[in-house]
Amino acid sequence: VEAALPLDSLLARGRKLHPVYPGIMSALSSDDEGAPYDRRAAAYDRLVGSRAYNRVVWAASVADYEGFADEAVAAGDGPLLDAGCGTLAFTAAAYREASRPLVLVDRSLGMLARAAERLVGAPASLVQADVLDLPFAPKRFPTVACNAMLHVLEDPWAALAALRDQLAPGGRLFASMLVSDRSIGRAFLAGLHRAGEVGPPRSADDLARAAHELFGQSAEVQRTGSMAWLRAATEGA
Ligand SMILES: C[S@@+](CC[C@H](N)C(=O)[O-])C[C@H]1O[C@@H](n2cnc3c(N)ncnc32)[C@H](O)[C@@H]1O
Repeated sequence: VEAALPLDSLLARGRKLHPVYPGIMSALSSDDEGAPYDRRAAAYDRLVGSRAYNRVVWAASVADYEGFADEAVAAGDGPLLDAGCGTLAFTAAAYREASRPLVLVDRSLGMLARAAERLVGAPASLVQADVLDLPFAPKRFPTVACNAMLHVLEDPWAALAALRDQLAPGGRLFASMLVSDRSIGRAFLAGLHRAGEVGPPRSADDLARAAHELFGQSAEVQRTGSMAWLRAATEGA
């Protein structure tokens, strides 16, 4: 993976990155144990990449995930931040075609290592970091993406606020999350929550309320099956 821009130019004052893996820099302290997803990257990739799983459990379509990624890449110029990028199961094609710098962040080194394999030739930098403690200076990204990730967090609205702070004036956010509106999805999310895999189940209305507080009228939430899609913008340019 080739870094397309000097990551140092995006870092907040006093923050540093250190190499942890070929092509991957980390913002975590070296005694940080990483993330539970490390052990599951391969299994995650197989399950979540399956069209049947997405259709049956979440009534969601892989084509919609891919279309959302295309939309984010096409939304502007300048660096795009993807927070919780995972293995790029649905975004790799869009990212390989991108002509803008991509900064792809995840807490799990295992997920990032698989992402790196998919990215050969893309203008991407891979960074291990926590979404609630991003190492970047505020307002540096014209586009921020966060796909199918907010629902795994205990406090998704704190993460949404952190992502808003990364957006440049007039910047655009594309975030999706699994929600509890549909009964099968609700049962699955409740089970995953009991198992400690995801945060407390939230509805599309919960997401819309949080997004309106953070982004005002620019925030729009749509839902397909159990996946809610948030598009929002920050003011001014
Ligand atoms: C359900 S996966 C989604 C991955 C990818 N965006 C996709 O659509 O396939 C959630 C991802 O969020 C990452 N993650 C979980 N908590 C995180 C945190 N606090 N900061 C950064 N990444 C986190 C996990 O390691 C995992 O890769």
